[in-house]
Amino acid sequence: MKSIILFAIFRVYHALKNGKLCYNLAMSPTDNPSNEEIEKGYAEIMANLSQSKPLVQSSNIKPIPEVSENLVKELMAFKQKFGSGLKLIYYPCCGTDVSVSQAFPESRIIYVDQNEEVVTSLKEAGFEAYDTDVREFKIGEQADMVLIMNPQVPAGELLLQLKEKGYVICNNYHHSAKELMSNKELELLGVVDSNGNVDMRDLEQYWQKIETEEEFQNIPDYIKGRYIDVLKVLRPGRKDMLAAYKEILAEQKGDFFREYNGKSLLIEGLPKKKGEDSDVYIFRKK
Ligand SMILES: C[S@@+](CC[C@H](N)C(=O)[O-])C[C@H]1O[C@@H](n2cnc3c(N)ncnc32)[C@H](O)[C@@H]1O
Repeated sequence: MKSIILFAIFRVYHALKNGKLCYNLAMSPTDNPSNEEIEKGYAEIMANLSQSKPLVQSSNIKPIPEVSENLVKELMAFKQKFGSGLKLIYYPCCGTDVSVSQAFPESRIIYVDQNEEVVTSLKEAGFEAYDTDVREFKIGEQADMVLIMNPQVPAGELLLQLKEKGYVICNNYHHSAKELMSNKELELLGVVDSNGNVDMRDLEQYWQKIETEEEFQNIPDYIKGRYIDVLKVLRPGRKDMLAAYKEILAEQKGDFFREYNGKSLLIEGLPKKKGEDSDVYIFRKK
């Protein structure tokens, strides 16, 4: 059936521009799927995530440890403001990302991933890494910080080994920050952007939809540009961008990528008052 979502798979790509590893969602072409169909597809993906089914076929390329300059910059900004002297850092679902070792060379860092090849590459390079399911892994002592970057396990399940007053650092590509915002054990202290600026004011605006023309004009141009692309497809010829923004959000239930006329659109990616999924969110356990 043409109008039904045929399949949804995650594929990994390296965002060459910023050196971050994240997933893109590819969908089969559909006409406008209904909200029910979209929600069903989304639920399937979330179920896959929580069961850790392999969403990506392994390739023949040997993994090597990688450093994201942006993430090092963001972690250094966090360290300056809040977190020097961290004894133990835990990085579940680490993949090949070893940026945190550059930012915290003095800390013990425990890397865990269930991909054996990945873990072998980390061990060969001298990192303390364990090849196991993060939901079964015990570090032995409570961590001062848990790093959660693009995990395939819900972020809340990765916090069991975080000590009181310990930090959680995460991004939002896999909605980790969004999920942790409603975790009553955590408080959001700040958000670091890719230039290393730490924002500690009006943090609720990272989740708030735009309401006024002034707020709309305040969105940085590069985010506005992406929104205009979405608008061109969803509302061709429409000039009143703020009204169209509100309409699209009102129509959209749940977070999802949709395919319109062969073009993939990230509906959830419509701008909020502040922020980006690539930002680094700093939480502290109460
Ligand atoms: C999208 S990658 C993110 C890698 C890295 N954090 C980054 O941002 O570049 C997700 C990683 O989680 C690992 N993973 C998924 N489920 C896991 C589980 N249950 N236990 C351990 N590792 C898991 C995968 O093998 C993969 O390397």
